[in-house]
Amino acid sequence: MRIAIASDHGGFDQKAPLIAHLKGRGHSVSDFGPDTDESVDYPDYAGPVAHAVSVGDADRGVLICGTGIGMSITADKVPGVRAAPVQNVTFAHLFRQHNDGNVLCLSGRFVSLEDNLAIVDEFLATEFEGGRHTARVEKAMREDTPSAQRSGC
Ligand code: RB5
Repeated sequence: MRIAIASDHGGFDQKAPLIAHLKGRGHSVSDFGPDTDESVDYPDYAGPVAHAVSVGDADRGVLICGTGIGMSITADKVPGVRAAPVQNVTFAHLFRQHNDGNVLCLSGRFVSLEDNLAIVDEFLATEFEGGRHTARVEKAMREDTPSAQRSGC
């Protein structure tokens, strides 16, 4: 799978081991930075990864900040992206199975590397279930359309 990855300073320490782990599992990984643990603004890194997924340059995105929340808020604004902060393997499974999530947002400060490796593995291994979830995801994605362009607004 082609994976785009980035962090801010809050997730920087986990980025390199996550990349090594993903490459070890045969994935193609594009590192969108940063290159040092200097303080940076998470939207500057979440945006490019989300756009790579949005335009099809990457199959999935992985973002790591202190909590995963700022990365998720930013990435989810990009059309076609379904991003969420995920702190355990069960949520990673359901994020794929029910929500067809395509950008995983991890916490580098409150979740251990070991747990995040298991979370990312589950995220990449789990298929979207489809069925009753398909229409729900489609309804959620309608919110990608700016209000002014929606009929009746
Ligand atoms: C940076 O201090 C921190 O705010 C950031 O990593 C992230 O947790 C934001 O959601």
